[in-house]
Parts: sequence; structure tokens; C-alpha cells
Amino acid sequence: MASYFYISFVSLLLCAIFVIQASEFSQSKVSTNVSCIGVEREALVKFKQELTDPSKRLWSWIGKDCCKWQGVTCNEKTGHVSKLDLRNPCDGLERCSLGGKIHIAANKLKHLKYLDLSFNNFSTQKIPESLASLKRLEYLNLSNGGFYGDIPHQLSNLSNLQYLDLSSGWSVHSLKIENSRWLSTFSNLKYLDLSNTYGLDSKEWLSPINMLSSLEVLILSGCGLEDVPASQHVNFTSLRFLDLSYNSVNSSIPHWFQNFSKLEHLDLSNNDLQGIFPVVILENSPWLRFFDVSGNKLEGELLKNLSIFCNLQVLSLCYNKFSGRIFDIKGDALICGQSNLKTIDVSNNNFNGHLPNQFGNFKDLEILDLSWNSILGPIPTSVGQLLSLRMLQLSSNKLSGNIPKSIGQLSNLEVMDIGDNQLDGVVNELHFSSLTSLTSLYFWWNELVINVSASWVPPFQIQAIFMSSCKVGPKFPNWLRTQRALSALDMSNVSISDEVPYWLSDVLSDIEELNLSDFVLTFVSYSDTFMKVQVD
Ligand SMILES: *[C@@H]1O[C@H](CO)[C@@H](O)[C@H](O)[C@H]1NC(C)=O
Ligand SMILES: *[C@@H]1O[C@H](CO)[C@@H](O)[C@H](O)[C@H]1NC(C)=O
Ligand SMILES: *[C@@H]1O[C@H](CO)[C@@H](O)[C@H](O)[C@H]1NC(C)=O
Ligand SMILES: *[C@@H]1O[C@H](CO)[C@@H](O)[C@H](O)[C@H]1NC(C)=O
Ligand SMILES: *[C@@H]1O[C@H](CO)[C@@H](O)[C@H](O)[C@H]1NC(C)=O
Ligand SMILES: *[C@@H]1O[C@H](CO)[C@@H](O)[C@H](O)[C@H]1NC(C)=O
Ligand SMILES: *[C@@H]1O[C@H](CO)[C@@H](O)[C@H](O)[C@H]1NC(C)=O
Ligand SMILES: *[C@@H]1O[C@H](CO)[C@@H](O)[C@H](O)[C@H]1NC(C)=O
Ligand SMILES: *[C@@H]1O[C@H](CO)[C@@H](O)[C@H](O)[C@H]1NC(C)=O
Ligand SMILES: *[C@@H]1O[C@H](CO)[C@@H](O)[C@H](O)[C@H]1NC(C)=O
Ligand SMILES: *[C@@H]1O[C@H](CO)[C@@H](O)[C@H](O)[C@H]1NC(C)=O
Repeated sequence: MASYFYISFVSLLLCAIFVIQASEFSQSKVSTNVSCIGVEREALVKFKQELTDPSKRLWSWIGKDCCKWQGVTCNEKTGHVSKLDLRNPCDGLERCSLGGKIHIAANKLKHLKYLDLSFNNFSTQKIPESLASLKRLEYLNLSNGGFYGDIPHQLSNLSNLQYLDLSSGWSVHSLKIENSRWLSTFSNLKYLDLSNTYGLDSKEWLSPINMLSSLEVLILSGCGLEDVPASQHVNFTSLRFLDLSYNSVNSSIPHWFQNFSKLEHLDLSNNDLQGIFPVVILENSPWLRFFDVSGNKLEGELLKNLSIFCNLQVLSLCYNKFSGRIFDIKGDALICGQSNLKTIDVSNNNFNGHLPNQFGNFKDLEILDLSWNSILGPIPTSVGQLLSLRMLQLSSNKLSGNIPKSIGQLSNLEVMDIGDNQLDGVVNELHFSSLTSLTSLYFWWNELVINVSASWVPPFQIQAIFMSSCKVGPKFPNWLRTQRALSALDMSNVSISDEVPYWLSDVLSDIEELNLSDFVLTFVSYSDTFMKVQVD
């Protein structure tokens, strides 16, 4: 339950890193002193009449000057309507969706360059063919617009298009690409997102896309792709952003990926990719910031030379078959001096070796997940230099020795998970001295002795504690009394033999998960709280 919680947290974070903006279109609205052209105003009025607008988002669409209407932008020199941005501004789809029919008088709005109808609910119709007459269109965003059915191939008439976004959420497979050949006609296309559409040829999908030599962003997540051909001459070498996640590609990673020398974002996660990951791809992509190949069957000793990751902010290799020594920093230093990494998730692989002493090089690191590998030896004292760290996950390895007191300096740490190792020694107040942000603590299945004084007041308000098999007792831990946010508590098999303190029911008032088995309880009179939980 708890691990599910922070996995989804990590993916949220990963998603938030890259936001691509079509900035050349963002003209400032206030500066227009042109007033709109009569026929275009009428076309917009007709357009509005066919729409449903329950939240009255288009309330400003009255009066003569349509250039002042919400979402409408006119060209400053000519006064023609150039931009229509009706993207749903609210969080929930339901709240501010436009719906109804799209009746766009293309012969009247000839100068439209930008059309954004994303995140609305046009669920009653297909993408109207009439959009294909908006010949000057450079930006078309119908992402999550609720459209269904075949994507009209007439759209290929939009030869000026630079941005095309027809993506939808992963649960809605509604738009179909009947024949992907029409894609190849967008010779100016820089941005293509077809995520969660269906109908792309699972094996030959690359041929039409390979004609788009200006492509900078390609997002084909959840498109049912099964193959990435090995031998191909790639045309679109200006690619900065590539996302092929959530497909079923089971080939190896083709070497032509190394020709994308401008790559900043590479997401191949959740496929079935096999074989050794070609390190040369990373060596040839000096601008790479985001690298996620999690959830595949990839092999190789990718962490041998961490210097190839110097510019990287997100490194996610989890759930693969990578091996070799972890963070084998040659000559005791990163070649770049300092890493920019914010997230390292290499959990669930076969990495071995010792943790490095040079943790101080990772000044920006917020998430470190090395769990479920075979990492040996002690946790180095330098872990205390990771002052940005929010999550430290080292569980299910073969770590041994004492926990360094320096860990208590990590004032941003929210999750400390070092469970299921061979750590031993005494943990006292110093190990927690500045952990003001701590919400989850996993110490279970080690040989740790917790020795804090009865008067200790922890600096944190914790939500989850897992201490099973540590030595906490014989006294019941009095510091728990200060905690008001507890929802999970495992103090099973922790050598307590004490009376249940009278305040415990207050501390446990919001508990969802509780295990106090093998804890020699002397029950006084206990109410419902204990009826729900397992106490052997
Ligand atoms: C808009 O106003 C500015 C000064 O306020 C003026 O210089 C410019 O010519 C005006 N543009 C049009 C199209 O009227
Ligand atoms: C979209 O509109 C249809 C009917 O017009 C409605 O049944 C559906 O619930 C709406 N979907 C959302 C997400 O609002
Ligand atoms: C399309 O709109 C959605 C939000 O409504 C946005 O996330 C996405 O980046 C837009 N696509 C382009 C190409 O700007
Ligand atoms: C698309 O272009 C072709 C040829 O240029 C033209 O015959 C056709 O009418 C156009 N279709 C639309 C929907 O504009
Ligand atoms: C590369 O692009 C050009 C022009 O866009 C096209 O003529 C050529 O066939 C493309 N090459 C491949 C292998 O698709
Ligand atoms: C990659 O680039 C090199 C040099 O620019 C070129 O010779 C090679 O053909 C390219 N490979 C592919 C598969 O496009
Ligand atoms: C990939 O999957 C296909 C069909 O599921 C299968 O025939 C093929 O052998 C697989 N290839 C590899 C390399 O596993
Ligand atoms: C590690 O990678 C860096 C950057 O690509 C390179 O300069 C260095 O020679 C590599 N070191 C080793 C030992 O391979
Ligand atoms: C626990 O801490 C107290 C006070 O700091 C100390 O006297 C005692 O020896 C410690 N016990 C263990 C097992 O470390
Ligand atoms: C209880 O903890 C001890 C170490 O303190 C351990 O050896 C034993 O396996 C644990 N028992 C269970 C059931 O986890
Ligand atoms: C409670 O803890 C004991 C000992 O660690 C373990 O054997 C048991 O499975 C746990 N019970 C539950 C419901 O997790």
C-alpha cells in the first residue's frame, strides 16, 4: 500500500519536469488596438451558437470588438483573427468543458494560425473535416477534446502545420488513425503527439514519421507499437523529445538512436525492450535531461561511468536487468564535478558493489531509490551531504554496519526506507536530529536497536512507521505520544514487554494499518481501535 503511494508520487514528479510550449504564438493580448473584422466576428458568433457552454466561459463573446473576446487574438497589423485558444482552463474536465458542435466557417476565418480546443467534451462528434480548410493553421491542439472515430485524412491539407496534438488520456482510446501515410505530408511539423490513439501500424509506423525531417517532439505513448526497426536511415535528427512509453516494443534498442544528438528527453518506459542498452546513445546526447527506460528487460552496466549522466536531472532504470557496480566513480570524482541529478531510481535491478563516498557530488538529489538490488557494505557518512533529499530508499539490499548519525541532517527527508538489509547498531536521537519533514520510516528487518530517552520529543510528525524485528523495548516508546498524524504503525516483534499506555488510543485515532503482534500487551480496557486490528 505504502509503496504504491510513493511510486505514483514519483511518476507525477517525472511528468512535471518537461512542459513544452509553443512560445512563438504567445502574443500579448492587451496590446491590440485593432478592432475585429465584421465577417470574422459573425463567423465567431455562429461558431459560439453551436457550442454548449454550461460554465459560461464565453461570456465575454459579446460586443463589436471580437479581438477583445476571451480566447480570441487578432493580428496586430491586419486585425484578422489569428488565434483561437479555447483550451479548458479548469482542472476537472466536467467543470468548464465546451461541448456541442464545431461549426467553423473556414472560408471566413482564413487567417487562423492557432486553434486549441483541448480538454473539452466534443464527445458527440468526429474531428470535423472542415478544419482541413484552415489552410494557414500552424498549431492544432485537439488533445483530450473528446473526439472519436477516424482522424480525417483531409487534415493533411494543413501543410503549414508545425504543432499537431491529437493525444488523449490513457483510458480513452477514441481516435483512430486509418492510414498513417497522411502524416508524411506535414513537412513543417515540429511537434507530433498521437498518444493513446490507435491504428498506427505497429511495425511500419516509423516510415511516415521518418519523412518529417523538422520533427523536434514525438510522443507516441500508448499507441500499440510493437517494433522499432533496427536498420533505418533517420531523417528527423533534430529530435529533442521522444516518448514511446507504454507500447509493446520487444526488440532491442536500435543504434540509430545515437543520431539524435539534440535529445533532451527520452522516455522508453513500460515496453518489453531487450538486450544491452547502447551506452553510446547517452554519450552522444550531451543535452539529455530526462532518461527513463523503466519497466523493460534491458541489460548492461549502465552505471559504470556516471560521468555520462552529468547533465541529467532524471534517471529512471527501475524494473530491468541492469547489473554491474553502482556509482563506480573513477578517480573518486565525477568528471563534471557536480551532478545535476534530482531523481535516481534504479530499483529492482541486479546492481551490486558499494555505495560511493562521493555523495556530496549530488547536491540537487531529491529522490534516491536503490531498493531491490544487491548493494553491499555500509551507508557512507557522506549521505548527510544530500541536503535536498526527500526520499531515501535503500531497502532489500545487503547493506551492513551502523547507520551514520549524519543522516539526521537531512531536513528535507520525507521517506527513509532502509528496511530488509543487514544493518545493525544503535539508533538514537542524533539520527533524527533535523528530520523535521519525515513522514515515513522503514527500519524493519534489520538488527537495529532503537535507544532514545523517554523524554525525547521528535522533530517530526510521522505518518507511517515500520519497525518490525528491531529492538525497541522493553519499554513502550514514549515518544509516540507526541505524534498526531499516524496512519500506519508496525511495532511487531520489537521486544516490548510493557503495559499499554493510556494515551495510545489517542495516537491511534486515525490508524489504518496496525501490527503489534508478539508485543506482550497487558490489555486494560480497550475500545474499538483494537477490535479492528490484529494483535496476536
Ligand atoms: C495601435 O496604437 C498604436 C499607439 O497606441 C499606434 O501606433 C498603432 O498604429 C495602432 N495600430 C493600429 C493598427 O491602429
Ligand atoms: C461529455 O458529454 C457527454 C454528453 O454530451 C456526457 O455523457 C459525458 O458525461 C461528458 N463527459 C465529461 C467528462 O464531462
Ligand atoms: C495541448 O494542450 C494540452 C493542454 O490542454 C497541453 O498539455 C499540450 O502541451 C498542448 N499541446 C501542444 C502541442 O502545445
Ligand atoms: C485538400 O486539398 C486538395 C488539393 O489541394 C483539395 O482538392 C481539397 O478540396 C482539399 N480539402 C479540403 C477539405 O480542404
Ligand atoms: C527523408 O525526408 C525526405 C524529405 O522529407 C524524404 O524525401 C526521404 O524519403 C526521407 N527518407 C526516408 C528514409 O524516409
Ligand atoms: C547517423 O549519423 C551518421 C553520421 O552523421 C551517418 O553516417 C549515419 O548514416 C546515420 N545513421 C542513421 C541510421 O541514420
Ligand atoms: C516479440 O513479440 C513477438 C510477438 O509477440 C514474438 O513473435 C517475437 O519473438 C518477440 N521477439 C523477441 C525478441 O522476443
Ligand atoms: C566516462 O565518461 C566521460 C564522459 O563521456 C568520458 O569523458 C570518460 O572518459 C569516461 N570514463 C571512463 C573511465 O570510461
Ligand atoms: C541507551 O542510551 C543511554 C543514554 O544515552 C545509554 O546510557 C545506554 O547505554 C544506551 N543503551 C544502548 C543499548 O546503547
Ligand atoms: C523477530 O525479530 C528477531 C530479531 O530481533 C528475528 O530474528 C526474528 O526472525 C523475528 N521474527 C519474526 C517472526 O519476524
Ligand atoms: C505482523 O507482524 C508479524 C511479525 O513481524 C508477522 O509475522 C505478521 O505477518 C504481521 N501481520 C500482518 C497482518 O501483517
